[in-house]
Amino acid sequence: MKKVDNIANIIEIHAPSNIAFVKYWGKTGRQYPLNPSISMTLNTCKTMTTLDYSWGANSLTLGQTIFEGKEAPEFHDRLNKFLHSIIDLYPELAELKLNIKSENTFPHSAGIASSASSFGAIGLGLSRILKEVRGEEFNLEKEASKISRLGSGSAARSIQGPFVRWGVDSVGDGSNEFAEVVSDYNSVFNELNDCILLVDLNEKKVSSSAGHTLMDNHFYKLGRLAQANRHFDDLLAILRTGDLEAFGKILETEALSLHGLMMSSNPPYVLLKPNSLAIISKILEFRENTKTPVYFTIDAGPNIHLIYPKSVKEQVESFIESELKNLCCNGKYILDYAGTGAKII
Ligand code: PMV
Repeated sequence: MKKVDNIANIIEIHAPSNIAFVKYWGKTGRQYPLNPSISMTLNTCKTMTTLDYSWGANSLTLGQTIFEGKEAPEFHDRLNKFLHSIIDLYPELAELKLNIKSENTFPHSAGIASSASSFGAIGLGLSRILKEVRGEEFNLEKEASKISRLGSGSAARSIQGPFVRWGVDSVGDGSNEFAEVVSDYNSVFNELNDCILLVDLNEKKVSSSAGHTLMDNHFYKLGRLAQANRHFDDLLAILRTGDLEAFGKILETEALSLHGLMMSSNPPYVLLKPNSLAIISKILEFRENTKTPVYFTIDAGPNIHLIYPKSVKEQVESFIESELKNLCCNGKYILDYAGTGAKII
């Protein structure tokens, strides 16, 4: 299909958030990661976005930007800047007129990657719009991941699922431009669960972009890169073999390393809260006592993600109710599980 001037079109996209098992922390150039990462795409935590667009504008025009039913000037400015920043890669956008409406199923800026799902949705939507003009050769998913990456690095991993890799690894596999699905994984990881224990819902004080920048001159930069590359290689192998204990060890080391890097940046900062640590202690104690395979990971925020296989869902969820719920903000947590990625509705 070719561009038809001045005809309004509407597409709706649902894009999930994702939780990194091996974290992307530090970037270079045009939103390229300093190290390869692996994540699990979520299912329930998602952004629902409607793009209402037409061609024939004299210059790229972002009209209304509505977030959760209200005009959102900050979101509008970020998107406007982002759209203009990718015109050199997708010159057709210079004739696009666009209105955006978006809402999340979860609280934003609380350590659940809302920028991953928001930019995942925008990326898939724009990729779909561009495919109308570019035709068959334009790879919808690759370009969606690339566009999403340019908005927010981790968003590159929200297009597909359940396990996704992004970045060139130690043997030269993978791409820094876009993320790809990890297709070879053991059945113990089928329908892996993620319970997000919401510790604090306030907007975090230091953004992820600021955190990435602090990696440039970090004393531990080289050590971190060696660690992340090793974890990446090991986790790819563990996903194949299904060794849950080794899997959990990488998850937890990655989570604590990410926060350790924040605490040792210049300037240092702390995103964890007392209840984040109280929850971690409870998890370690429960695992020690019951030998249940349940592990934690943490994003750039205070919330704790509890990762566990389907086989122990019942035990873990009764442990959450009896021991962890009271440590969550207003007793709130979100039960989520591995999903298949962003979709055009
Ligand atoms: O996508 P960004 O640029 O907001 O970076 C997020 C990085 C982490 O969420 C902390 C880790 C990751 O790999 O998702």
